[in-house]
Amino acid sequence: MKLSRLADQIQTSPILTFAAEINARKAAGETLYNLTVGDFDPAIFPVPDALTEATIAAYREHQTNYPGALGLAEIRSGVAHLLNRTCGLDYGAKDVIIASGSRPVIYAAYRAIVDPGDKVVFPVPSWNNEHYAAMNGARIHTVETDPGDHFMPTAEMLAPVLEDAVLLALCSPLNPTGTMLTRERLEEICELVVDVNSRRSDHLKPLYVLFDQVYWMLTFGDAEFAHPLAICPEIRDYAVFVDGMSKAFAGTGIRVGWSTGAAHLLDKMVSVIAHVGAWAPRPDQAAVGKFLFMDEEVDAYLEKFRGALEARLDAFHEGFMGLRERGYPVDAIAPEAAIYLSVKIDIRGRTTADSKALASEDDVQRYLMDAARIGVLPFSWFGAHSHGNWFRISVGTCELEDIDPVIAGLAAALDNLAPA
Ligand SMILES: Cc1ncc(COP(=O)(O)O)c(C=O)c1O
Repeated sequence: MKLSRLADQIQTSPILTFAAEINARKAAGETLYNLTVGDFDPAIFPVPDALTEATIAAYREHQTNYPGALGLAEIRSGVAHLLNRTCGLDYGAKDVIIASGSRPVIYAAYRAIVDPGDKVVFPVPSWNNEHYAAMNGARIHTVETDPGDHFMPTAEMLAPVLEDAVLLALCSPLNPTGTMLTRERLEEICELVVDVNSRRSDHLKPLYVLFDQVYWMLTFGDAEFAHPLAICPEIRDYAVFVDGMSKAFAGTGIRVGWSTGAAHLLDKMVSVIAHVGAWAPRPDQAAVGKFLFMDEEVDAYLEKFRGALEARLDAFHEGFMGLRERGYPVDAIAPEAAIYLSVKIDIRGRTTADSKALASEDDVQRYLMDAARIGVLPFSWFGAHSHGNWFRISVGTCELEDIDPVIAGLAAALDNLAPA
């Protein structure tokens, strides 16, 4: 029976469908390593204890009525406090809005900016922008990035396509690559946006930037997050920032996200969020509000969490580099941030021992699952088609001791292919 055009178009996430298949096979007794989902196993990566305690306390205090459209004052102050002390900003509670995770914030930003037919630009690989753009009837323009640039865009790549765009969606650190924009590159892109807007007539919609920074607290080694507003304050009226508890505090099920940025935009996003009813639960807002003022607990948690993620990502990276040195057709980009590693497994076009051709990235993905026992996601699932054979590994549900067997299993699966 007929439904809306949106309903005809909208798709469930293939990532979640694939992850569900892996979990079903595991439940049926197979040994499989699920490196697909951008989620955490709470038995390995629990949320901070202080946050759990504060949440229980909020329920005991009966904080169970509506939280208000903007979010509770204490969490908005808490977010401002976190951003000011770590990113060198100067926010107050009035500059922050709260929603039930980062997704409603992204949805609301698209709703507030994009009209049907408007041009939206985003680099690929990228996480989920195609869905938000499609829900708004946007004209999508993707920009393919290169492994040599760690799959990050440059101002040079973006300049030719921004002149008639209303939205540039950026994410750094990036899902799916685990890499991030350097301070210099980010500064050049911000300056480009300011420059495009300086030439755009006042009666047209400006070029806005949606900057998704949900992984910004999870950086490793020399990689350092620079906040766009700290390096290019002139972007303030055109920028909206997306952030939340899901990744930095392993709280994907807590459903607390927030947004900062241009006041006139946040104002309309609040209305979108309110009409959808996508407020974060009040007890969680109250708890996060308390927690974000606990500087010592926040810093201690992040240090330990970053260390555990980095150890896993480094172990995978070393494993891939070891295979490469032994002549296997693989590669990887050293981890910079988030919970992901970019790996190349260059076996498309090869033939399996039972004479099946691995013709597509999906065939390679299936072979890796059946022969190497690992679930990984091709970058084509994140909209990138120019550089086949790159995959995302996620370590959110991975034990350190699983990594050696995964690398050994991969080597065995590659050994089983017919010679190239
Ligand atoms: C880049 C990015 N932004 C936003 C989200 C969504 O986060 P939330 O759970 O807060 O809705 C994700 C989740 O995978 C993500 O990878």
